Amino acid sequence: QPIEIGIEISDEQSRQKVKIGIYFATWWALNVVFNIYNKKVLNAFPYPWLTSTLSLACGSLMMLVSWVTRVAEAPKTDLDFWKTLFPVAVAHTIGHVAATVSMSKVAVSFTHIIKSGEPAFSVLVSRLFLGDTFPLPVYLSLLPIIGGCALAAVTELNFNMIGFMGAMISNLAFVFRNIFSKKGMKGKSVSGMNYYACLSMMSLLIVTPFAIAVEGPQVWAAGWQNAVSEIGPNFVWWVVAQSVFYHLYNQVSYMSLDQISPLTFSVGNTMKRISVIVASIIIFHTPIRPVNALGAAIAILGTFIYSQVE
Ligand code: 3PG
Repeated sequence: QPIEIGIEISDEQSRQKVKIGIYFATWWALNVVFNIYNKKVLNAFPYPWLTSTLSLACGSLMMLVSWVTRVAEAPKTDLDFWKTLFPVAVAHTIGHVAATVSMSKVAVSFTHIIKSGEPAFSVLVSRLFLGDTFPLPVYLSLLPIIGGCALAAVTELNFNMIGFMGAMISNLAFVFRNIFSKKGMKGKSVSGMNYYACLSMMSLLIVTPFAIAVEGPQVWAAGWQNAVSEIGPNFVWWVVAQSVFYHLYNQVSYMSLDQISPLTFSVGNTMKRISVIVASIIIFHTPIRPVNALGAAIAILGTFIYSQVE
């Protein structure tokens, strides 16, 4: 009965499409909220090492509670799993802290414009470190990505070198994280959600000593008092919101990575940046010049061309 089978397959395909659409919409919405609260917190409390640590701690705690209360089933892991996770966690920690340091120095939109260049880093790392080769159109698609990011950077009104380098380091680190996590998730029984939970816990252990060494409790205590006197007691809820939303958007993104190819994932990630850039420019009244916006548009267009030719 070929016709009926055809109908069943297309039903299944459209269900899958709806499911992925819901994942993507949720991922972007959670990410926009995270970015807004993260920047509000950093404006009043410019200590990115602590805020990065708190977001990992919050996610780890939420997942531990879900496992203990059996809201989610705890994964069955062995030593080998944690060993394979280690390089992923190192890259995740560097990428997360670097992006947060960047956002503490420049506008959220600027960090995300530079982060829209991630596919260019992906091609360069695969070419230089893994020896992969790509067809000529892929290399050509890097020109608008790199050119667009460069144009946006040189015309940025509030350019800051640490902010720029943080976003660049984050790009590099996340390319390695994606390469390692693809390897680590392949053939493993751990779901995307639990994989991200274990990743948060390991990253938390890695980042904590560095956060204490770079910023430290004394600086945090004084900064916290300042922030509370400036914002009021509600400040703590901003910190809670940035931490909870950080975990949720990453969890949903790993749940969708489970279902789709890395390429579809990276296209989804670029579309996510468009929502963040637009939302943050509106909310924070970020000043932009037309040539600056043109650079961002060229970079994002380059990413779409890349996804079509890869
Ligand atoms: C972070 O804090 O880790 C960054 O904001 C994450 O950037 P992403 O948009 O690449 O997840």
